[in-house]
Amino acid sequence: MDRNLALDLTRVTEAASLAAAKYMGRGDKIAADQAGVDGMRKMFDTLDIDGVVVIGEGEMDEAPMLYIGEKVGKREANSTKVDIAVDPVEGTNSVAKGLPNAIAVVAMAPKGCLLNAPDMYMDKIAVGPKAAGKVNIDAPIHENLRATAEALNKSIEDLTVTLLDRPRHQEIIRQCREAGTRIKLFSDGDVAAALATCFDYTGVDIMLGIGGAPEGVIAAAGMKCLGGGFQGRLVPYEEAERERCIKMGVDVNKILYMEDLVKGNEVYFAATGISDGELLKGVTFRSNNVATTHSVVMRSETGTIRFIEALHKLNQKPKYAY
Ligand code: FBP
Repeated sequence: MDRNLALDLTRVTEAASLAAAKYMGRGDKIAADQAGVDGMRKMFDTLDIDGVVVIGEGEMDEAPMLYIGEKVGKREANSTKVDIAVDPVEGTNSVAKGLPNAIAVVAMAPKGCLLNAPDMYMDKIAVGPKAAGKVNIDAPIHENLRATAEALNKSIEDLTVTLLDRPRHQEIIRQCREAGTRIKLFSDGDVAAALATCFDYTGVDIMLGIGGAPEGVIAAAGMKCLGGGFQGRLVPYEEAERERCIKMGVDVNKILYMEDLVKGNEVYFAATGISDGELLKGVTFRSNNVATTHSVVMRSETGTIRFIEALHKLNQKPKYAY
């Protein structure tokens, strides 16, 4: 894949983020999501790719745009054939309520390299590069905590575990407290939370718990670029979900390692903050129709991590009508 496509992906996440950020705190998560989808969709067609959405807004009959199977990009004879995973607004509730950690995010890889994860829950463990390979989703929680603390040369008391604030995580929280770690709960957005474990400045060391499976694949794509560790296991709560997995050929009992989630070493990842978070700053709207965005863009092959702060003169981009 042409490396400049990674930078092009940033335009895609910036467009989604600028559009969704207009809905910050307005209490309407559907409108926020729709704006993000519209912004992202328009920008995709400027990219020289022949892409297929493998993780998106849902099946064709439930999503008008960026549905699973939708073709995106210029799709010319020489365009690169890629699979795309999108989440135009990862953290729709956070945008609706004006809470932190919402991002617009895209991962791209050669055809067949991203797991087509069913829309259900996934149990997850994510750690930064130093602790990658030292944790195991099947190990007792206190062992994973100890291994992570050791890898980071920290005491257990200084280790910060981050989790979605959900009743289903009460037992994990209890065990973390028993082990003596610090805990940082977040209301939504476990892609940003997983990635945060890879950056010292976030102060977050390990993410545990159950979130969306599609978000798990997207997080794994980012973690692969960062050299972090990520493991998941699907959690079907209903028989229909179990049947869906069988139909899709996904083993529900299997630990999904990085290579199962994202194959090979040619994955591109871009994310732009919508609301302020540990990882990225959110969109700010300034005077004279100027807005700023903060993005991260990465390629697994080289491991280059670029943070891009952009200033957008919105009245000079009428085509994108943010
Ligand atoms: P949405 O933006 O689709 O609402 O997802 C937000 C999110 O918090 C994800 O980051 C997470 O994986 C999932 O929801 C958790 O699901 P639930 O809210 O059902 O616990």
